[in-house]
Amino acid sequence: MSANTNIESVQREDRVFEPPPEFAAKAHIKSMAELEALRAEATSDPEGFWARLAESELHWFKKWDTVLKWEPPHAEWFVGGKTNISYNCLDRHLGTWRRNKAALIWEGEPGDTRTLTYQQMHTEVCRFANVLKRIGVEKGDRVALYLPLIPELAIAMLACARIGATHSVVFGGFSSTALVDRINDAQCKVVVTADGGWRRGNEVKLKPAVDEALKETPSVKSCIVVQRTKSKIHMESGRDHWWHELIETVDANCAAEELDSEQPLFILYTSGTTGKPKGILHTTGGYLLQAHLTTKWIFDIKDEDIYWCTADIGWVTGHSYVVYGPLSNGATALMYEGAPNWPEPDRFWDIIERHRVNILYTAPTAIRAFIKWGEQWPLKHDLSSLRLLGTVGEPINPEAWMWYHRIIGRERCPIVDTWWQTETGAIMITPLPGATPTKPGSATKPFPGIEADVMTRDGKPVGANEGGYLVIKKPWPAMLRTIYGDDERYREQYWSQIDGVYFAGDGARKDRDGYFWIMGRIDDVINVAGHRLGTAEIESALVSHEAVAEAAIVAKPDDLKGSAIVAFVTLEGGRVPTDELKEELRKHVTKEIGALARPDEIRFADALPKTRSGKIMRRLLREIATSGSVAGDVTTLEDFSVLEKLRTEEE
Ligand code: WT7
Repeated sequence: MSANTNIESVQREDRVFEPPPEFAAKAHIKSMAELEALRAEATSDPEGFWARLAESELHWFKKWDTVLKWEPPHAEWFVGGKTNISYNCLDRHLGTWRRNKAALIWEGEPGDTRTLTYQQMHTEVCRFANVLKRIGVEKGDRVALYLPLIPELAIAMLACARIGATHSVVFGGFSSTALVDRINDAQCKVVVTADGGWRRGNEVKLKPAVDEALKETPSVKSCIVVQRTKSKIHMESGRDHWWHELIETVDANCAAEELDSEQPLFILYTSGTTGKPKGILHTTGGYLLQAHLTTKWIFDIKDEDIYWCTADIGWVTGHSYVVYGPLSNGATALMYEGAPNWPEPDRFWDIIERHRVNILYTAPTAIRAFIKWGEQWPLKHDLSSLRLLGTVGEPINPEAWMWYHRIIGRERCPIVDTWWQTETGAIMITPLPGATPTKPGSATKPFPGIEADVMTRDGKPVGANEGGYLVIKKPWPAMLRTIYGDDERYREQYWSQIDGVYFAGDGARKDRDGYFWIMGRIDDVINVAGHRLGTAEIESALVSHEAVAEAAIVAKPDDLKGSAIVAFVTLEGGRVPTDELKEELRKHVTKEIGALARPDEIRFADALPKTRSGKIMRRLLREIATSGSVAGDVTTLEDFSVLEKLRTEEE
């Protein structure tokens, strides 16, 4: 990419939604004035701001000596402080009325349910922590967790945190090869898994994948197996143990270790766009503070609420907003094991109605699927318990935002569009629902204490509505500490692209009100006739057409223009792909944003290739558009048949 070219922004969106006064009146942060006061405090004294909240919101066995040690690009927070995340999430609630409050309400895909109170969670976590100790896990050891979305996953995480072991959760949908790479990179001593889990009525077998993996992972000494599906599996004697048998052999008390604030808490692998997955390392005190505070202020969690983040715990969203943030706040979190369209496309709405869920946090990719399945599904259900909605994972196109607002929020619930990353550990750019007026498609403004900005490639500020590179200018408590085992790559990837700041990899613009609009990954930016355009805006224009369910934009080499715009489009149920429709869509984009962004080619598809966390893999589409086939790495692809189909449609 050339040094000074920025990204042109072509999106226009003028709708503004004020926080509903009834909502604001009861919110943790009640007004813009209150939010601005927090921002002012954080700007004038960032360390004082975070320290004040670390002291009032968390339990410390010993207070820190230094709030922040910043030797770029390495930060340490609350240096010298001693704390424990498991203590903060469990023990500290036991001396209060919350002892008997539901910490976790879990629903399995077949419909089985379990509720665990804070007291019960504490007992389970203590037992499993003792199990880990008994099989030789010590402070600093790494433990791989390869499980379905069942309570034992949260229990195992908290048990690791309790004794200072570092967990590495590997999403249960990943293959045994992916598991091998991750176990070996972190040199895990133990793997915790299950016989299997349920997904769309089928068993996802986990233990056979683990058996396969453990042939190539010499560091693993033991494997602990949760019995979930009761299918027949192999148990290797001496190596494999049943969870339910081990916990019978240990005591139900295990004191939480007094850990350094910088004790490694977890490694989570993120694929990035190319190459070997990066083991993102997070530590204890700073991570917990930001996970806790963002949960409280952004999701406006109250003791009466039932809060549901639909993410799998295999992603960072599940770490911070299914487990650590909610439990640290003493909240009630709902957890659902299975697919959103099992047995019917209204499973989510059915769950919300039955459990009276108040706060829902999900992904744009899920919302677009719901739109495609049709509004009759949510409209069948009483969703009046909902009071707040959230999204994360990708830019949400304004039309999907409006649908979420109308059909799910029934025009009553604020929406928090939260921008962050595995690397940032917790939410960075977001509305506060009782204070921030929202605009469909914008993540609005940085959380207090976060200094985000948009810059040119060579580190200069850009003007209002000019696209550029999204950066963070100061260290924040939950920031990654390094890439596990590869500090050089950490420096190179995040701190060397633009001098002196963290570069997140995303393109963005700020509008005249200082609102941030994420324009997609920089690697996906397309360059057409000298104009650099973010993918999100053109895709959003396509999706605003009533026939379109989803769209992905890529560039392919073109003799005349340098590159041509290719749009992959999936249609709403019942719409027929025709040449007339292609022409209509090209005209629609021209009308919405101008001829500059008009797709040269439109290709209809049944589905788009996505990662398992739901992000569209534009890199693969680029290869298909350019060469007709895919040679690059496809290990993170969710559904291989999608790729096959796209390929054959070209022939
Ligand atoms: C990337 C990080 C953070 C949890 C889930 C994803 C994109 C995330 C938004 C948003 C626009 C978003 C960015 C970011 N992204 N949230 N609200 N608006 N884009 O974690 O897998 O580490 O992905 O997701 O491109 O860099 P992740």
